[in-house]
Amino acid sequence: MIHYGRHHLDEEDIQAVVDVLRSGSLTQGPAIDVFEQAVAKYVGAKYAVAVSSGTAALHLAALAAGVGPGKSLITSPITFVASANAALYVGGRPVFADIDPDTVNMSLGSLKEALAKNPDARAVVPVHFAGLPCDMPAIKLAADRAGAVVIEDAAHALGATYPDGSRVGSCAHSQMTMFSFHPVKAITTGEGGMITTNDESAYRKLLRLRSHGINKLDDPLMLPEQALVNGVRAPWYYEMEELGYNYRITEIQCALGLSQFRKLDKFIRRRRALVGAYDKALGEFRYCRPAQAEGREQSGHHLYTLRLKFKSLGVERARVMQTLREQGIVTQVHYVPVPMHPHYRRLGLNPQDYPNAQEYYEEALSIPLFFDLTDEQQKFVINALELACNFSRSPNRA
Ligand SMILES: Cc1ncc(COP(=O)(O)O)c(C=O)c1O
Repeated sequence: MIHYGRHHLDEEDIQAVVDVLRSGSLTQGPAIDVFEQAVAKYVGAKYAVAVSSGTAALHLAALAAGVGPGKSLITSPITFVASANAALYVGGRPVFADIDPDTVNMSLGSLKEALAKNPDARAVVPVHFAGLPCDMPAIKLAADRAGAVVIEDAAHALGATYPDGSRVGSCAHSQMTMFSFHPVKAITTGEGGMITTNDESAYRKLLRLRSHGINKLDDPLMLPEQALVNGVRAPWYYEMEELGYNYRITEIQCALGLSQFRKLDKFIRRRRALVGAYDKALGEFRYCRPAQAEGREQSGHHLYTLRLKFKSLGVERARVMQTLREQGIVTQVHYVPVPMHPHYRRLGLNPQDYPNAQEYYEEALSIPLFFDLTDEQQKFVINALELACNFSRSPNRA
């Protein structure tokens, strides 16, 4: 099967995991720090907190940003449900800003409208769709004016750079950035996630929340008198300052993550080459275009998503997907717009309020893109897609 995305593992990764298994330390050991510091240094952020999943990272970031009852969180309708669920986990209200049809990222105009209509907005969560960075300086400015915190959902964007050359995750235009290490992402830890930040108080809060809300580092004690035995701090004493979680990541995962991380640039280079080949081959076909028109040079290239005018092509998307699947090619639609899900409809959201997202959803199809995809396999995918969609070549593209 040729999946739309999959991880790459080599002997070095396997050895890194074996080494941890032999080390005697399975969790809360040195690999976590080393992995966090490596990512923080690479993206150019002061701090990093590794957690058990990207979803946990979003949950903790929403808490640290102060989203909660009576507050809303604005994100994109074209994302994985986790981006919006973060608002619900903390008792906040999810709000959506429609996408820009050329980038599939949150549109600045829609964000400004959403901020104006929702003065309770506490956080803005732009999603770097498929690894293409959002216009962060503009988003940050709009959020600042409304008194909202920016949390970047960079689940797709580890290794991507902003137009000014700085890396996604540097938090130059946000308080926090989160990453996911799910196996289809740029690098994997099996399950895992990370939050980067330059804000020391957010960092300390994230460290506590990751581990039950218990004091970390040299956090001042809230009830210091309880800690004292004959005037000296008791060695066993710890305080749970607030309600936190067990969102810790293991040493096993971090050792794998670190080994994978060393290959990140190589992974992205290959993805970029594959994207170039897809653009070239598919660019000649009518009613077919890459979903993200421009600016992908510095993308993380997590997905290769097409927009196909199925009606004009005279084929149904489900039929195309089925035909490809019969040939061992697995495609996917990223994503069902979040407001379409029953849970979100029950909350009163109406998908028709996001016309660009709806139109995109009608046309989207992600085709295989991953490090191990060979040139031959890619050609096979292109040919199979051409046949399944009855593409016609045209110099005047539709
Ligand atoms: C845009 C986006 N945000 C958040 C997540 C959640 O990450 P995880 O699967 O690691 O919990 C994902 C992952 O699937 C994602 O694609």
